[in-house]
Amino acid sequence: MKNIGIYVHIPFCKKKCDYCDFISFANQEDMQEKYVMALNNDIEKTSKTIQEYQVNTIYFGGGTPSYIDENLIVKILENIKNHYTICEDAEITIEINPGTVNKEKLIIYKQAGFNRLSIGLQSTHDRLLKLIGRIHTYNEFLETYNLAREVGFKNINVDLMLALPTQTIEELIESTNKIISLKPEHISIYSLILEDGTVLYNKIQNNELELIDEDLERKMYWKTKEILEKNGYNHYEISNFAKKGFESKHNMNCWLQEEYLGFGVAAHSYFNNKRFSRISNLQEYIKNIEEENFEKIIEINEIQDREARAKEYMLLGLRKIEGVSISAFERKFEINPLFYFRFEISKLEENDLLEVDLDNIKLTKKGLDLANQVFEEFV
Ligand SMILES: C[S@@+](CC[C@H](N)C(=O)[O-])C[C@H]1O[C@@H](n2cnc3c(N)ncnc32)[C@H](O)[C@@H]1O
Ligand code: SF4
Repeated sequence: MKNIGIYVHIPFCKKKCDYCDFISFANQEDMQEKYVMALNNDIEKTSKTIQEYQVNTIYFGGGTPSYIDENLIVKILENIKNHYTICEDAEITIEINPGTVNKEKLIIYKQAGFNRLSIGLQSTHDRLLKLIGRIHTYNEFLETYNLAREVGFKNINVDLMLALPTQTIEELIESTNKIISLKPEHISIYSLILEDGTVLYNKIQNNELELIDEDLERKMYWKTKEILEKNGYNHYEISNFAKKGFESKHNMNCWLQEEYLGFGVAAHSYFNNKRFSRISNLQEYIKNIEEENFEKIIEINEIQDREARAKEYMLLGLRKIEGVSISAFERKFEINPLFYFRFEISKLEENDLLEVDLDNIKLTKKGLDLANQVFEEFV
C-alpha cells in the first residue's frame, strides 16, 4: 500500500491576528456545525476514489481547530478513521491556541487519537502578543502547555515568531530560552512575513509601526539557531527544529513531495502528479457540497510533467537542512540531479549559495539567508 497524508482545514478563529492572512474567519460561529457536516461529506466522498493507500499523517490546521466544539473535531477524526486505512503509528496533529482549550478538551483530543499538539505562542512577551493582536498572554500559554503535559501529550510543538515590529534580539533570546526550558519536542520559528491587506500591513503603510531591518532579522535567525542547536534541537528545515526523532512527519512528507489530500476550504492537495485546492469561499464550499456539486469545490492549480516534478522536488527538498539526497533523486527521476540541474547548480555554487557533498545537494550558510533567491532557480 502507498502512503498518503491528510490535512484538514478548520477556518475559524476567535479573532484575526494582525499579521495573519491564512484563510480563517472570526465571528462565524454559526457556520461551524454546517461546515463540519460539509467537510465530512467531502472526506467520505473522496475516500471512494482512493484505493490502496494508507494514511501515515493527519494534520488538523487552521485557523484555530481548538476554537470549535471538541465534539466536532472528534466527529471529523472518527470519520477519517472510518473511511481510510490509518497506519498504526500515524502522526495525528492538532493546532491549538492558548486560551481556547481546557483540560476536558485536551483529554477528549487524546482519547480521540491525537498524539501531537502544535501550540501557537509567537512570543513570551505580553507586550508583543498584544502588539500583533493575539488573544492570549504568556501565562495562558503556560497553563495550556502544562495541561497538555498533564493529560499525557508526549509530542508538542511550539510556534514562535521573529522579526516582529519593535522586537529586540534580547526579547527573542529570552523567548527562545524560556520555551527551551519547557522541553517541547519541536519548535518552529517563523520570520514575520508582511502579508498584503492585513492590519499589520496597514499599520506599516501608515507609519504606525516599522519593520525591523534585515540585518537584525538575520542576526535573530542565526542566534536562535545557535541557542536551539546548543540545547539539542536539530535544525532540520529552514524554520523547524526538533529533538531527535520528533521531526514532523507531516512537514517532512510535504518537503519530500509525498502525496496528501487536503479537506476543507482552501486546503491544498497533491495527488497523481496534480496540485489542486478546495475553493476558499466558506459559503460556496458548504453550498456546493450540500448540492452534491463536488466538482465545483476543486480548483486545479498544476498538472505536473516530469520536469515540473523534478524542479519542485529540488525546491522543496532544499528547504531541508540536510538538502536533497542525490540517490533519492536518482531513484525517483532515473537521472543524476547533478547532471540534470548542472547549469542551475554551478551558478548557485559559484555564488556560494549551494554546496554538494558525496550524498546531498544543500544550501550553504549564505544560501540559507537567501533561500528565496535559490528557490527561484528551480521555479
Ligand atoms: C496558521 S497558524 C495556525 C496556528 C494557530 N491558529 C495559532 O495562530 O496559534 C500557524 C503559524 O503560522 C505562523 N504565521 C501565521 N502568519 C504568519 C506570518 N504572516 N508570518 C510568519 N508566520 C506566520 C504563526 O507562527 C502561527 O502559529
Ligand atoms: S495566526 Fe492563528 S489564531 Fe491568528 S488569525 Fe491566523 S490562524 Fe487565527
